[in-house]
Amino acid sequence: MRIASARNIAILISGRGSNMRSILEARDTIKGEIKLVLSNKADAAGLDFAQSMGVPTEAVSHRDYKNRKDYDARLVEILRAYDVEVVVLAGFMRVLGATFLNAFPNRVLNIHPSLLPAFPGLDGQGQAFEYRAKVSGCTVHLVDEGTDTGPIIDQAVVPVLAGDTRDSLAARILEQEHRLLPRALSWLVDGRLELQGRNVLVHDE
Ligand code: GRF
Repeated sequence: MRIASARNIAILISGRGSNMRSILEARDTIKGEIKLVLSNKADAAGLDFAQSMGVPTEAVSHRDYKNRKDYDARLVEILRAYDVEVVVLAGFMRVLGATFLNAFPNRVLNIHPSLLPAFPGLDGQGQAFEYRAKVSGCTVHLVDEGTDTGPIIDQAVVPVLAGDTRDSLAARILEQEHRLLPRALSWLVDGRLELQGRNVLVHDE
């Protein structure tokens, strides 16, 4: 199934927002419009940067909702108000359920700092480092209801060096995240992705 092209993008963050920044800085090369940056934390540093780039922002705390379904429904309501069609999770630290995902089928992307399926969940970089893996990396994938289990769009390998700390490894992985995420978003926006089961094909155009 070819995933149809779509224009209107929202980026969801929870903190620093460097991946969001990599998208905003690449926006001239992406044939879509960043309609909104939304955070579940009002003090997320990334919100200031988005505003400085003239992008509308919203902060909606999950703590104000009694369960995930209600929170998801509120997020969908806001994104619909901005005509959003494509959602990028860029360090968004909440798990989204069916209420959210069914509103944007095959149009939710996530960046994860490990070579999935290794080291899903929190602190993928620290998990790989503690495990003494020889390589790690990052993964861009479509989001499904599992934790970091959706179909893989792209991955980059980052070697774990003898002198690495968790943080030096994380910094080199982050460079690759910033390269992969805007590119995968652009493929999705351009309608270049095809889904065959969990195999994602990237077409030339
Ligand atoms: C990144 O490492 C991303 O892979 C993970 O959370 C981190 C977010 O960093 N999901 P930033 O907010 O994009 O700087």
